[in-house]
Amino acid sequence: MTVTIAVAGKGGTGKTTLSALLIRYAVQNRLGKVLAIDADPSSNLHLVLGTSLTKTVGDIREDAREQVPSGMSRQEWLDYEIRTAIEEGDAFDLLAMGRPEGQGCYCAANHMLRTIIDRICKAYDVVVMDNEAGMEHLSRRTTRDVDHLILVSDASLRGLAAAEAMYALSKELEINVRQTYLVINRVTGDLPDAWRERIERLNVPLLAQIPYDPQLVEFDGNGRPLVELPNDALVSRAVEQVARTLLNK
Ligand SMILES: Nc1ncnc2c1ncn2[C@@H]1O[C@H](COP(=O)(O)OP(=O)(O)OP(=O)(O)O)[C@@H](O)[C@H]1O
Ligand SMILES: [Mg+2]
Repeated sequence: MTVTIAVAGKGGTGKTTLSALLIRYAVQNRLGKVLAIDADPSSNLHLVLGTSLTKTVGDIREDAREQVPSGMSRQEWLDYEIRTAIEEGDAFDLLAMGRPEGQGCYCAANHMLRTIIDRICKAYDVVVMDNEAGMEHLSRRTTRDVDHLILVSDASLRGLAAAEAMYALSKELEINVRQTYLVINRVTGDLPDAWRERIERLNVPLLAQIPYDPQLVEFDGNGRPLVELPNDALVSRAVEQVARTLLNK
């Protein structure tokens, strides 16, 4: 059975960092076949994972408007193209969604793409999806049918308010999420009392508080892939706890 984790939250709260370190945990602990999905149109998950990226689902959707070869149905062609867009690595595979649809009707292509991607995901044991900031992906339903939805906030009340709004929208849209969690990132001290009350009211389990980690800042500053962070770095240890809860049956 595939375990699917989606990571969402306000801009710059640490979604990509958390996604990358969850992927690393799954690989290091040999939890099976791992697929990283970059669902952020600015496609940067591959950089922190230290892999390359040549083609996105968005590129394929654009191409499908013009160049489906004769003798092939559009569905067959999309299926083939998506498979070539998967960056296959020794440790994990990566699929980037790229930009969302432009002008014009993409409904049929989107429906086919979703079916294909759902089928591809089933071939993996662990799927981790790094989302763009904000709530668009919820409305577009690129985040759906997930086991674990992690709402990441930084230690600002604006971050928490964004997480609250996303949770409310996910309920309203009846997105099929088994369990939603809250993770607070870049924590430097105790959370103010006001936080405790808000989190209790939100009624979403607080899965972890990830400390501010200067070593991570140094890695990012030098463009070093985060998957090379030592296992005993502050963030690595905190994410390990998150991963243990979600991935170890
Ligand atoms: N625990 C932490 N300690 C220190 N810096 C952190 C921590 N977590 C994330 N950062 C830094 O915060 C910045 C934003 O992190 P990241 O790119 O993971 O956020 P994001 O939510 O994916 O952003 P975006 O919304 O732009 O996609 C990065 O420079 C990263 O190094
Ligand atoms: Mg990101």
